[in-house]
Amino acid sequence: MACVDIHCDNITKRFGATEVVAPFSVTLAAGHTTALVGPSGCGKSTILRIIAGLDTPDGGTVALGGDPPKTLAKRGALAMAFQDPSLLPWRSVRANIALGAELARKPAGDVDALIDLVGLSSFADHRPAELSGGMRQRAAIARSLISAPEVLLLDEPFGAVDAMTRRRLNEELPPLWRSRGATVVLVTHSVQEAVLLSDRVLVLSPRPARLVADIPVDLSGPRENTLAQTDKFAALSRRVFAALEECA
Ligand SMILES: Nc1ncnc2c1ncn2[C@@H]1O[C@H](COP(=O)(O)OP(=O)(O)OP(=O)(O)O)[C@@H](O)[C@H]1O
Ligand SMILES: [Mg+2]
Repeated sequence: MACVDIHCDNITKRFGATEVVAPFSVTLAAGHTTALVGPSGCGKSTILRIIAGLDTPDGGTVALGGDPPKTLAKRGALAMAFQDPSLLPWRSVRANIALGAELARKPAGDVDALIDLVGLSSFADHRPAELSGGMRQRAAIARSLISAPEVLLLDEPFGAVDAMTRRRLNEELPPLWRSRGATVVLVTHSVQEAVLLSDRVLVLSPRPARLVADIPVDLSGPRENTLAQTDKFAALSRRVFAALEECA
């Protein structure tokens, strides 16, 4: 699979009088996972939507592997799981997940294995209305992974997922997207999750979002939850918290 880098060059965005994204520039290496953290309302989802090509920046450009986001979307190489999982209410969980592959015009592969991975096996034939919020989020995560995207954008994907399932998914999902060489941007409110899952943490200021810290996560070995007990992990988390506090 092609590895795609993400290049944001001076992107800006305002909604009416509200400046949401200050000039924001960053290059995210192909195949890396980058976490975006910042206070609520600072512009994280807006940045993700711009990278996805769902919103147009007022200024600046976004390139994914040198192409505009829509080019990747058209070839089915871009997938997202957003804060509010938008599942089709008339389709079963299985059919909603398979839709991720249908839209990308790719073979669905082993849908049931992915359903099992996100812990929804006994709900595969249920409709979204019969699921809890966290279960809907897990279905949306599975839908974003089914097409083996080159660029994967995750906006608080585990926000409504219970603590134990979140811990399990934090360990089991990243190896899946890493082994496929996907370039991942993950928005999370959990500093621990940001450090555990990523190669790099970008800390954003309160609105309008600008980059206040760029912290490489140089943790070797498998990213298991027990890493959180190490001194190195604690030091990285402290750096992220310090950057968040500094700009608050
Ligand atoms: N379509 C829109 N129209 C008007 N204002 C918007 C729109 N989308 C976002 N905003 C505003 O832009 C700002 C940033 O919103 P955004 O959703 O990007 O924040 P966020 O960092 O993702 O917050 P959270 O952590 O709470 O999800 C907010 O003030 C929000 O009200
Ligand atoms: Mg958001």
